[in-house]
Amino acid sequence: MGTSESNAPAKSRRVTLASLRKAKQERRRFAALTAYDASFAALEDAAGVEVILVGDSLGMVVQGHRSTIPVTMDDLVYHTALVARGAGNALVMGDMPFMSFATLDDARRNAARLMQEGGAEIVKLEGTGAQAETVAALAAQGIPVCAHLGLRPQAVHKAGAYKIQGREPEAAQALMDDAKALEEAGADMLLLECVPAKLAKKITEQARAPVIGIGAGVDCDGQILVLYDMLGITPGRRPSFSKDFLAGAAGIPAALEAYVEAVKSGSFPGPEHSFE
Ligand code: KIV
Repeated sequence: MGTSESNAPAKSRRVTLASLRKAKQERRRFAALTAYDASFAALEDAAGVEVILVGDSLGMVVQGHRSTIPVTMDDLVYHTALVARGAGNALVMGDMPFMSFATLDDARRNAARLMQEGGAEIVKLEGTGAQAETVAALAAQGIPVCAHLGLRPQAVHKAGAYKIQGREPEAAQALMDDAKALEEAGADMLLLECVPAKLAKKITEQARAPVIGIGAGVDCDGQILVLYDMLGITPGRRPSFSKDFLAGAAGIPAALEAYVEAVKSGSFPGPEHSFE
């Protein structure tokens, strides 16, 4: 018979909402990254990426569309299932594509598909306070939600361009109010895209839920980038808030490790990747 020590179950390293909340409380930054297939998911997991988002950015970086709008629910379910097979310990987040949560029934049915068929552990939806009811409907079913605020690529045609959000005082206040409303409705995480660093810091301090930033400064609880941007392989111009971690690295695993290390140490994003 072995000792009680040897019989003890191995300590799980799986990332959960609880472990991310603890990271926030302990002010330990965490790294998130997008992935669209099992091989990259496995490499990210091995590098210490804690949250892997199967984003609808796949429409632009994988499918070659000019926006994320053509991405379908079937596309997201398929790619989420690939990622979930490779992800190991990382928390898998599946994106709700354009119009997939237009009604509460759509939201419930499609979020369930991402979880049951895709293996997602949390779903992400782009929204403002107007989506609070949707978040509440999902939360009521036990579906974890990450609310994506600020620049919302699915609303690009309404906004007219991909631009920084929350610069004027009224817009900043509206964003703070939206973040609060979505968290009160049951959002377990917030994601802020392209908002001034000072505003992102305020929202992060105000929120109990972990806040992930992209183009939102260094003071969010976690950071996320689009994988192809941080490997420098996105066709065309790389967004200014991103950084090519493959340049100068020994290979893709080293680039992923450098990204995780830079996020955890707070050396990425620098002021040159942030907006004031
Ligand atoms: O779809 C996506 O990859 C995203 C990230 C930009 C956060 O939403």
